[in-house]
Amino acid sequence: MGIDKSMYTGELVRLRALEMSDLNDIMRFFNTLELRRYLGPPIVRSRKYMEEWLQKVSIWEPWKDGQLVLAIEEKKTGQFLGIARLEDILLPHNRAEAGISIYDPTKRGKGYGKDAMLVLLGVGFNILGLHSIYLDTMEDNERSIRIYEKIGFKRVGLLRETEYIDGVRKGLLIMDMLQSEYDTKYPEGTFTHPK
Ligand SMILES: CC(C)(COP(=O)(O)OP(=O)(O)OC[C@H]1O[C@@H](n2cnc3c(N)ncnc32)[C@H](O)[C@@H]1OP(=O)(O)O)[C@@H](O)C(=O)NCCC(=O)NCCS
Repeated sequence: MGIDKSMYTGELVRLRALEMSDLNDIMRFFNTLELRRYLGPPIVRSRKYMEEWLQKVSIWEPWKDGQLVLAIEEKKTGQFLGIARLEDILLPHNRAEAGISIYDPTKRGKGYGKDAMLVLLGVGFNILGLHSIYLDTMEDNERSIRIYEKIGFKRVGLLRETEYIDGVRKGLLIMDMLQSEYDTKYPEGTFTHPK
């Protein structure tokens, strides 16, 4: 029996387990400045490094390892689009940090990122039972800030000049959402019925 690919499905994307077969797709886009400048220090990574990373993260357990790292794939074609992750999952607090990235630049600005974050919130709040999900994003990442605000994240603060990317110091904007706010805004949850 194959993997159940229909577990976490939105309007445009589904989130599924990462597989070693995703390595080629990851390597196609990972060592590009226009992706990595938004994800922290853009250190170039070898195929070996990414293979070992994939080996680890593809078997991480949310409660044991504190992380759930998933592939984002296009619902219509099954094409790998990027990564969605919940990190820093801590049981006594029931909170996690969320992150999403659409790796292929030709697939950005088409609604996939917003849909992937909505599905990830569904996983966090309605599957893992989290109380709070927070994220950080560079203060000049207008595209991401726009979708997070539209989804319902609130701005809670700015860590000033904490990032140094391509010779420029930038702040990190912190945003969060509580389970009660999610339940009010999305009473039906954010998964669509799998097709
Ligand atoms: C940020 C990211 C996840 C967003 O996903 P996406 O699929 O490109 O975004 P979407 O198409 O869902 O939504 C983009 C929104 O931003 C708007 N937008 C696009 N470019 C913009 C810009 N330069 N400034 C402001 N808004 C912009 C779009 O109009 C759209 O808003 P709308 O729904 O009101 O029309 C994706 O672009 C990405 O992975 N970027 C590189 C890595 C990254 O930044 N990761 C996030 C780290 S916090």
